[in-house]
Amino acid sequence: MAPLASLGALLMAASVAVASYSNRPSYIGRDTFAAPYDQSFQEGYSILKHIGGLGPYSNRMSFGIGRDPPDSCAVDQVIMIRRHGERYPQGSDAGKINAALDKLYSSGKTEWKGDLTFLNWWKYYVDSEGLYGLETETGPYNGLLTTYKHGAEYRVRYGHLWDQKHNKTVPMWTSEFERVVQTARKFGEGFFGWNYTNSVSLNVISEGVKMGANSLTPVCTADNSTKTCDNLSHDLPAFRVAADRFNKQNSGLNLNGTDIFYLMFMSAFELNVRGYSDWIDAFTLDEWKWFGYTQDLQFYYCAGPGDPFYKAVGSVYANASLTLLNQGPKKAGPIFFNFAHDTNITPILAALGIASPSEDLPLDKIPFPSTYEIGNIMPMGGHLTLERLSCNATVATEKGTYVRVVLNEAVVPFTSCQDGPGFSCSLSDYTEMLNKMLPDFTSECKIKSSLPQHLSFWWDYNKTSEYNHQTAEYIPYQGHHFV
Ligand SMILES: *[C@@H]1O[C@H](CO)[C@@H](O)[C@H](O)[C@H]1NC(C)=O
Ligand SMILES: *[C@@H]1O[C@H](CO)[C@@H](O)[C@H](O)[C@H]1NC(C)=O
Ligand SMILES: *[C@@H]1O[C@H](CO)[C@@H](O)[C@H](O)[C@H]1NC(C)=O
Ligand SMILES: *[C@@H]1O[C@H](CO)[C@@H](O)[C@H](O)[C@H]1NC(C)=O
Ligand SMILES: *[C@@H]1O[C@H](CO)[C@@H](O)[C@H](O)[C@H]1NC(C)=O
Ligand SMILES: *[C@@H]1O[C@H](CO)[C@@H](O)[C@H](O)[C@H]1NC(C)=O
Ligand SMILES: *[C@@H]1O[C@H](CO)[C@@H](O)[C@H](O)[C@H]1NC(C)=O
Ligand SMILES: *[C@@H]1O[C@H](CO)[C@@H](O)[C@H](O)[C@H]1NC(C)=O
Repeated sequence: MAPLASLGALLMAASVAVASYSNRPSYIGRDTFAAPYDQSFQEGYSILKHIGGLGPYSNRMSFGIGRDPPDSCAVDQVIMIRRHGERYPQGSDAGKINAALDKLYSSGKTEWKGDLTFLNWWKYYVDSEGLYGLETETGPYNGLLTTYKHGAEYRVRYGHLWDQKHNKTVPMWTSEFERVVQTARKFGEGFFGWNYTNSVSLNVISEGVKMGANSLTPVCTADNSTKTCDNLSHDLPAFRVAADRFNKQNSGLNLNGTDIFYLMFMSAFELNVRGYSDWIDAFTLDEWKWFGYTQDLQFYYCAGPGDPFYKAVGSVYANASLTLLNQGPKKAGPIFFNFAHDTNITPILAALGIASPSEDLPLDKIPFPSTYEIGNIMPMGGHLTLERLSCNATVATEKGTYVRVVLNEAVVPFTSCQDGPGFSCSLSDYTEMLNKMLPDFTSECKIKSSLPQHLSFWWDYNKTSEYNHQTAEYIPYQGHHFV
């Protein structure tokens, strides 16, 4: 017998002597030397955190607050807005990707070397033009699968809120872009299972500017703060280093920093399709870190707290959901599942002050630590979940109604309001906080008085199931320009 095994046997014999079978210590029968708590925590690097919102979903790195409701509380209302699942690149990005690939292949090389050796067998992953912009359907991170799975997981978590006995229609809301509608349907099938068709009424909300504030995708037409956003560069020193490396390893190649950016951009999506990409290892950790930062800058200045008008955009949802929380499940309903795009959710976070840095993100260096990392904020499938908690009294907290914000399955407490159970915020303090900090969308964005001034579809929804599935009569919006 090996010494380790005999030590284990010795420990087991010693414990059995003092403990009956039914209450014996839980370590009995385990490998005594398997560390039960992971100690590695090395550089904490994962590619999934450095491709912004372009690649597969991953949970937000949490503050270590338990995801389940605190012992004294139960969730009585859930309000979620979710981005579509993992997808192919958009048609509008295909040109830039193809230009970078053409530049590689037009060099006429027949044998690739160095970091690009894999090009001897690698092939681009978009097999047909029709796939651009759609959710992916292959590989471990495919968008259809992860979206369905998310629905099924939320059924376990929030299924108690679905009142099956009274068989009332459960409304869901989606903006009208094809992949978003498909996401809503897949999530609904995951959550409601066999009952999706009969129990749900999917409400499809136009993405047009004509919707004013009655929208999941409001637009700030008066935004005059786009200067930094319009001038973000993709030609960064870190990318020129990669270009120089590839060019030296493969004579005749003439890549520049912009080409590298689009090759990295392209390979992030390969993960959504294939689950792996040979390109990932062709770049260094630092190069990926910089790539991730280009995405942080993009969201921060183009759809986040770096453009002050986006707080106003996000306040539409923040304010209307505040009304739902105050009305509570009996008056408003218990389940509000909504679906839209990444750039519709980052403004809501800005309005709530979640993940907003105290200073503008610098353009020439990466701040450490950084609160605004898009891989941790809005990956594919990213979602913001508001939980209304009904809590009994504990010795430390009063009986009452509390609110918790959960971003990509991590509980995010408010710095100024966290003394409820499980670092939650009492509904009354949450209400006071939001009433003070939310700007007025219609006046700041100069929404014409002829357009809707409030979000009302959560209260006057349609009860039809005609949009629950794809039909010949209704084809979702596929990206042509409209207002
Ligand atoms: C709160 O207390 C009531 C009455 O004792 C009990 O029925 C309920 O389950 C409690 N709720 C939670 C979340 O513990
Ligand atoms: C859900 O679907 C099952 C199977 O079709 C059915 O037996 C059940 O009555 C349905 N529940 C509701 C609330 O429609
Ligand atoms: C629930 O209602 C829907 C229509 O609203 C109906 O199709 C379905 O059969 C009902 N289910 C039960 C179990 O009554
Ligand atoms: C943007 O518009 C506001 C008025 O809505 C004005 O106060 C501000 O100076 C403008 N900023 C720029 C950069 O034009
Ligand atoms: C845009 O950025 C470049 C450097 O990347 C800078 O030289 C230029 O002044 C900027 N233009 C504006 C309008 O800010
Ligand atoms: C890199 O090359 C492409 C065309 O091959 C060009 O469009 C782009 O502007 C170049 N980028 C830089 C920074 O020169
Ligand atoms: C917030 O929502 C309420 C009701 O939903 C509405 O009466 C109020 O005007 C809204 N406030 C803003 C600033 O939009
Ligand atoms: C409900 O249906 C009517 C008629 O088709 C439509 O005009 C309205 O926009 C729909 N409302 C919602 C919230 O989908």
